[in-house]
Order: sequence, then structure tokens, then C-alpha cells
Amino acid sequence: MSAQIRLVEVTDANRDAVVALRVDPAQERFVASVEKSFLDAAENPSAHPWFRAVYDGDVPVGFVMLSWNLVPEPGLRGPYFLWRLLVGAGFQGRGYGRAILDEVVALLRADGAVELLTSYVPGDGSPEPFYRRYGFTPTGETDEDGEIVLRLPLARDDRGQG
Ligand SMILES: CC(C)(COP(=O)(O)OP(=O)(O)OC[C@H]1O[C@@H](n2cnc3c(N)ncnc32)[C@H](O)[C@@H]1OP(=O)(O)O)[C@@H](O)C(=O)NCCC(=O)NCCS
Repeated sequence: MSAQIRLVEVTDANRDAVVALRVDPAQERFVASVEKSFLDAAENPSAHPWFRAVYDGDVPVGFVMLSWNLVPEPGLRGPYFLWRLLVGAGFQGRGYGRAILDEVVALLRADGAVELLTSYVPGDGSPEPFYRRYGFTPTGETDEDGEIVLRLPLARDDRGQG
């Protein structure tokens, strides 16, 4: 059964609750905090940042940030790049991560996207198995920070699940 989630805009009303989301300390090397994500978004308008808080009912459980339809250039992959994805430590393993990707993929398809790129820091406990299970595969590239680049095709015929 898939988790029921909502993607919600971040406003002054919910900002503190979303910033309070934390991954497990051992996972902090794989993903930047929500606070850092807001700073990165503000400092990198050319990356076309788009982000949403993720709610289950009234409870914030996660955060997702993409580069949305940017013009690719050296150091900026896209047009669509999954930049941050996190599910709070106490909420992981319940299908939220997959449900977030399902929602994002639906929005991307509606926007005409044909692929979603992302990258991950390799190492023990990395999100690689999560992304692979969802259908991402390596492009063969490694980015300037040593992250492994992954691709999810979005054309309807590319995946059995869509
Ligand atoms: C990666 C992350 C978003 C996954 O979210 P989640 O809600 O725990 O994942 P789900 O419960 O939706 O899991 C979906 C599937 O992936 C599997 N999975 C999730 N994390 C996994 C891991 N670390 N290793 C192996 N399998 C994993 C689940 O077992 C499940 O498998 P199933 O299809 O057989 O049921 C979450 O663990 C997280 O926030 N991690 C820390 C931050 C991070 O690394 N973010 C990504 C880098 S930007």
C-alpha cells in the first residue's frame, strides 16, 4: 500500500516545523539539511530551485527540492534534477520516500519532462538501493564532487510502474 502524502508549499506558517526535520545523524553525510537547502535555493536562482514540504495529514514528514526545468550548463545538470530528498528519521521505511517520488514524477510528466536526474554520495547507508529500486540507473557519470549520477526515464513506456 502506498503512503498518503501531500506536497505543501513552505510558508512562514510551516517553515520552522519543516526546518526541524532531521535525518539520522549517520545519514547527514548523504543529504544537506532543510535549512541549508533554503540557503542553497536562495543563492542559486540559475538552478531553478523548486521545493515542497511533505506532509502526512498535518504532520511534516519530509522535504524535496528539485532543479525545475533549468538550462543545463557545466555544473548544473538538468533540465530536471532531484537536488534534495529526505524523510525524517522517525518516518523512514514507511513508503514515504517512494510516495514523494510518485508525486514528483506525476508533476514532472505533466510538465513534459522526459527524464529526472539525481546523484548520490556513495558509501555505506547511501540512498543508492532506494533509487535503484525505484528505477533510477547510473548514467556512468560522476560529478565534480564525486557523486554518482543517476537517471530515471519518464516517458510512459520506459517503466512498468508508470
Ligand atoms: C532515502 C530516503 C529518502 C528513503 O525514504 P523512505 O521513506 O525511508 O523509503 P521508502 O520507505 O519509500 O522505501 C522504498 C523502498 O526502498 C527501500 N529502501 C529505502 N531506503 C533503503 C536503503 N537505505 N537501503 C536499501 N533499501 C532501501 C525500501 O526498503 C523500500 O523497498 P520495497 O520497494 O522493497 O518496499 C530516506 O531513507 C532518507 O531520507 N535518507 C536520508 C537522506 C538521503 O540519503 N536522501 C537522498 C539523498 S539526496
